[in-house]
Amino acid sequence: MKLAVVGLGYVGLPLSLQFARAGIDVLGLDVDKQKVDALNACRSYIKHIEPTEIAEAVNAGQFEASVDFDRVSEAEAVIICVPTPLNKNREPDISYIVETGKSIAPHMPKGCLVVLESTTYPGTTDEDLREVLESGSGMKAGKDFHLAFSPEREDPGNPDSKVALIPKVVGGYTPECLEKAVDLYSKAIKTVVPVSSCRAAEATKLLENTFRAVNIALVNELKIVYGAMGIDVWEVINSAKTKPFGFMPFYPGPGLGGHCIPIDPFYLTWKAREYGQHTRFIELAGEINTSMPQYVVNRVADALNAKRKSLNGSKVLILGIAYKADVDDDRESPSYVLMDLLTKQGAQVSYYDPHIPVIRPSREFGHWAGTKSVAWGKEVFRSCDAVLISTQHSAVNYRELSDWAECIVDARNAMAAIKTKPGQVWKA
Ligand SMILES: NC(=O)c1ccc[n+]([C@@H]2O[C@H](COP(=O)([O-])OP(=O)(O)OC[C@H]3O[C@@H](n4cnc5c(N)ncnc54)[C@H](O)[C@@H]3O)[C@@H](O)[C@H]2O)c1
Repeated sequence: MKLAVVGLGYVGLPLSLQFARAGIDVLGLDVDKQKVDALNACRSYIKHIEPTEIAEAVNAGQFEASVDFDRVSEAEAVIICVPTPLNKNREPDISYIVETGKSIAPHMPKGCLVVLESTTYPGTTDEDLREVLESGSGMKAGKDFHLAFSPEREDPGNPDSKVALIPKVVGGYTPECLEKAVDLYSKAIKTVVPVSSCRAAEATKLLENTFRAVNIALVNELKIVYGAMGIDVWEVINSAKTKPFGFMPFYPGPGLGGHCIPIDPFYLTWKAREYGQHTRFIELAGEINTSMPQYVVNRVADALNAKRKSLNGSKVLILGIAYKADVDDDRESPSYVLMDLLTKQGAQVSYYDPHIPVIRPSREFGHWAGTKSVAWGKEVFRSCDAVLISTQHSAVNYRELSDWAECIVDARNAMAAIKTKPGQVWKA
């Protein structure tokens, strides 16, 4: 069979390669010609995907990328993995899904299956996407073509996380749509978990990400409360996690980042209003998590103050731009908020990140685009008034950092195992 995957980013590319490995012909479609050209030339633009993996699929004739959406006509199934951001009013922006629907609808063959994977609010698949597909194709969902939703589960930076081994939840528009979608995923994924509807599958993903956002907010709040009591929250979490049941560790940080956790819960908040419902846990978690960068900046000010220095005029180096350890993904990274807040207070800000040598253009933090990482070296770190650890990359030598930097503000507990001088490290 032939499968088309639309959107060849962090989700769509590994998924395409997994289907290709399972012996399915995959046509990858994207609006970004540079990505398409890179893939056809067996080059990777995602750090954890090796060019050899792409070459294997391309050379076996199992994978090909294209910008030509007419070629959807060749596919028996289409999986959509396009972005679902928030707009500047923090409301869901499903325009990428709608645009994709418009591009594929006129070319969908009768009887084909369309599965949406982009994270979104319940109702997107069976209302918004269905309407676009039906009006563009002149066909009826559940009758002339099949429609389903299956959320993606990714654990970026975790080398043990393999697409094939992560159970895949699937919901269909009709029982037959579900059957078709389960059949498709079963060809490449070990465990497929059918649920009763597209909405139940959409809601599952939102529960998973809201669960993370709320629990991260809880430990962020406890970090401040316990900190005021002279108790180290990281020590407490490490001791609590020895409980073999009923506890799962979450860790505090400088704020939420990434394409999912800071965004997805607000898709639910927005949709819930239509039903006269309020998502109080989500709102409260959002409030606590978005206040973290300011808390961390205040800790930098405290640390400098202890050395009779002010933020204004100080050189502050941010260690880590990626939103989580060992990835090259800087979307929604709290490091940018920290850089903005510090700059506003008059600090001279620079950064070091072995995975992000230069800051790429982005919608929200475009003013940092082109800024380059400093080189790892004694003189650079010695000349800083404070180093703020925002991401705990394992490629960083924290022992050298403790030898070089006078003042370290640690928002990740990265210095826990390193012997440091009294007053040198400030947890934040
Ligand atoms: N990255 C993750 O870890 C992760 C995990 C779970 C779920 N998700 C969800 O999966 C979806 C995709 O996320 P991602 O991280 O892969 O995004 P991404 O930005 O890495 O990739 C999206 C791709 O879609 C392409 N695209 C944009 N508009 C298009 C269009 N109209 N037609 C075709 N291609 C188009 C972009 O060029 C890009 O290559 C989002 O809804 C996200 O919330 C992401």
